[in-house]
Amino acid sequence: AAQAGAGSFQADLLVASNRGPVSFAVGDDGLLIPRRGGGGLVSGLAQVVQDAPEDGGELLWVCTALSEADRRAARSAPGGRIDQAGYDTGGASVRMLDLDRVLFDRAYNAVANRTLWFVLHLLHSPSTEPSFGASFRQDWAAYEDYNAAFAEALAEQAAPGACVLVQDYHLTLVPALLRAIRPDVRIAHFSHTPWSPPQYFRMLPDSVAAAILRGMLGADRLGFLAPAWAEAFRECCAEILGATVEGDAISAGGRTVRTSLYPLGVDAAELRDRATRPDVQERVAELRELAGGCRLVVRVDRTELSKNIVRGLDAYRELLRAHPEWHGRVMHLVCAYPSRHDLPEYREYTAAVQRIAAEIEAEFGTESWLPVHLEISDDFPRSLAAMSLADVLVVNPIRDGMNLVAKEGMVVSTENAVLILSREAGACSQMSADALVVNPFDVTATAEAMHTALTMDPAQRCARTGRLAAIAAQLPPRAWFRAQLDEIAG
Ligand code: F6P
Repeated sequence: AAQAGAGSFQADLLVASNRGPVSFAVGDDGLLIPRRGGGGLVSGLAQVVQDAPEDGGELLWVCTALSEADRRAARSAPGGRIDQAGYDTGGASVRMLDLDRVLFDRAYNAVANRTLWFVLHLLHSPSTEPSFGASFRQDWAAYEDYNAAFAEALAEQAAPGACVLVQDYHLTLVPALLRAIRPDVRIAHFSHTPWSPPQYFRMLPDSVAAAILRGMLGADRLGFLAPAWAEAFRECCAEILGATVEGDAISAGGRTVRTSLYPLGVDAAELRDRATRPDVQERVAELRELAGGCRLVVRVDRTELSKNIVRGLDAYRELLRAHPEWHGRVMHLVCAYPSRHDLPEYREYTAAVQRIAAEIEAEFGTESWLPVHLEISDDFPRSLAAMSLADVLVVNPIRDGMNLVAKEGMVVSTENAVLILSREAGACSQMSADALVVNPFDVTATAEAMHTALTMDPAQRCARTGRLAAIAAQLPPRAWFRAQLDEIAG
């Protein structure tokens, strides 16, 4: 069990991720205000953390200080233990690593987000294709140091035989580094992203590609969200490392590691309860008024290139051009969370989203009809309200590990929303039977799917949404977490 005291504190169960369950902002009075961290990973894990004590032993979440405010909080906390400094962390024990700013920028922005994220999501276009020169070597060295800092912190805080669950592409080197220091601990690594096939993954310098695969193979178990991602990872190991792959087992360097699938779902009861609270209901009323009786085509995303927001808007424009019968009767509501604006590609993408929304407005808008409404804000209750009111929910990513919006949207729907789902989202491996499945690059087909969705008969909509909501509720975060623990602890 956990022992008190920051220095000597050791936990039986540890989670490691770049972004933690809490982040800080500076209030007008100069004081630090803790807020819930954003993103799918944090939403998934936040609940789990509250149960951890019942699960036998305290859970410690090790994460990074992402901003100046986070760094201030981490520095003021004994041993970086945010919870012990009296901040509300939603019940979690949290150690925030206060890393050098330049090192963090190189590891997180340059390597994790600008390089690995693009490679894993097949996002490179001729204008963004990387050149791996001397500057990248420096970035990569920072990524190695960043991973080493995590491995050291975990090694220090893990009780003998502890289980450590390492999350995502930021921390691919941690499993092998941690195993080298602490061979007694059990390690799982989970990828919340897709994985790319060897032909694409090999875009990385050979030494980097091999280091990532070897780093992850230091785990006892590798978790993925969908079959295609696990398969692509195994293919990379075979082709790049010369590993032997039999079924889901990968043998390399004298060890055999298995890949497993844990298709994360949502906690339906919790989400539905959340959607009935006053803050969401207030927003439901506001959005109903805004829609003015129009049918609602909704999307909720981070302003993220892989989410394919621009093609979604383009498809909506084609719908309006091809089907004038919808003029005055439909509105596209786009809720976008600002994301990764330190990177120029993301700033430009957000501008492109704003541009096309303005073009649609200019082409079709009238005094009495708002064809599109774009909100770039970080308002989760507003997104829940939008999803609950959707007639059509558009989830058309170019590639996505899972996409929890597809699941949340079905669970909170009050209007039997029809789901338009990209075949490249991990969620499609579970939800294809009752969604309208689209090729994310095919704008015309997506526009036609919108028309089909808007004209679908109510009985069919109801049956489909019901079945999709049931699928969405499978393997909610607690069960997802438990399943991974059982596999490595057993
Ligand atoms: O796995 C994807 C992920 O890392 C999740 O944490 C979350 O969905 C999103 O990306 C958040 O990205 P960031 O932490 O860079 O804002």
